[in-house]
Amino acid sequence: MTATSVLRIALVGAGEVAEHKHLRALREVRGATVVALADPDTVRCARVADRYGIPQRLSEAHACFSPQIADIVGILTPPGTHAELAIAAIEQGRHVLVEKPLALTLADCDALVAASRGNSVSTMTGFHMRWHRLLSRARDLIASGVLGRLESIRGTWNSPRGDETAPPWKRARITGGGAIVELGVHLFDQWRWLTGAEVIEVFARARHGTRDDENATISATLSNGMLAEAVISERTSHVIEIEVCGDEGRLRVSCQRFDGLEVYARRETAGMMGPRRRALVRTLRELPRGIARMRTLGDYGDSYRGEWQHLVDSVRAGGTPSCTMEDGRAAVLVALAAAASAASGRSVRVADAPTTLVAAR
Ligand SMILES: NC(=O)c1ccc[n+]([C@@H]2O[C@H](COP(=O)([O-])OP(=O)(O)OC[C@H]3O[C@@H](n4cnc5c(N)ncnc54)[C@H](O)[C@@H]3O)[C@@H](O)[C@H]2O)c1
Repeated sequence: MTATSVLRIALVGAGEVAEHKHLRALREVRGATVVALADPDTVRCARVADRYGIPQRLSEAHACFSPQIADIVGILTPPGTHAELAIAAIEQGRHVLVEKPLALTLADCDALVAASRGNSVSTMTGFHMRWHRLLSRARDLIASGVLGRLESIRGTWNSPRGDETAPPWKRARITGGGAIVELGVHLFDQWRWLTGAEVIEVFARARHGTRDDENATISATLSNGMLAEAVISERTSHVIEIEVCGDEGRLRVSCQRFDGLEVYARRETAGMMGPRRRALVRTLRELPRGIARMRTLGDYGDSYRGEWQHLVDSVRAGGTPSCTMEDGRAAVLVALAAAASAASGRSVRVADAPTTLVAAR
């Protein structure tokens, strides 16, 4: 690879997230191009490859791990397949991005961490929200100390889906579906990434319908003493919001609004003149950018571009990407503890979490 060569990316899995998020974002990534798409569903694979002009279509994933085909591989398949596919790619010397959740068992997470450490390749867990423009700004603000001593963090993630569009693996917790595993890992990673603290103990409640864990709430304690709360749903209206409160102020990020970062001093409420004026100025200042990016899912869509650009730049620089396999493992551990808590009705310490997912019912 030379400093100017274009890196070749192969994607494994031509499903929903590949078609509607990764491939859209990859059109705007500098220094890389998608050369291959692999999926045993050859009809879907061909349709998605045609849509994005991808030259090679493969029905078998391992075929794209060879150095003749790709430099980087994106594993975008159901979670139960991540470890086997990603380890095979790493062992063939490919740089790898693995979608969240990293895996469904502690053994698979450990095997991924070991493979990543034992090979000189760049590997990354796909927590794309770490590249969300407003969340990155929020993280910098938190690190600056403007909120004072951190007290609590609250995340809401609703991503409604109808039964007719849910593949079988998204219907059951033990195959990676539902609010605790599919969506929860994002918020568990946000808790860690935004606060720099680890999750110590969780208490979870889940509500099932035709699918497992259609709604869930998870309360947690963090290693820095903060309290954390997640409210997650696959049934109700779209929202992704994070609020962090300190003893000197609080901030709130509405991740789907271009003007969605609000910061309040300790004595301010949202209805006061100062915050209202700041909100108006913020909206007017950011409106042109917001309108320009609306068609590409705004900052949410951009976060996928950011994660890929980060991996491509890391590969080129020979560096370690900032969202590691260890980060992926840490979020899965919290999900394992939360699943056990929801099943037992008791708090579960993350250090004592079972090594596999406890079934929902
Ligand atoms: N980052 C996010 O916000 C986000 C959003 C949605 C999904 N995801 C994650 O992305 C992954 C895929 O989700 P999805 O919604 O696209 O699922 P999906 O079921 O729509 O698509 C998965 C695709 O993988 C293919 N596949 C299965 N086994 C394969 C194998 N061995 N080799 C090659 N292809 C194989 C299937 O045929 C299917 O086309 C999951 O881990 C999911 O949690 C992440």
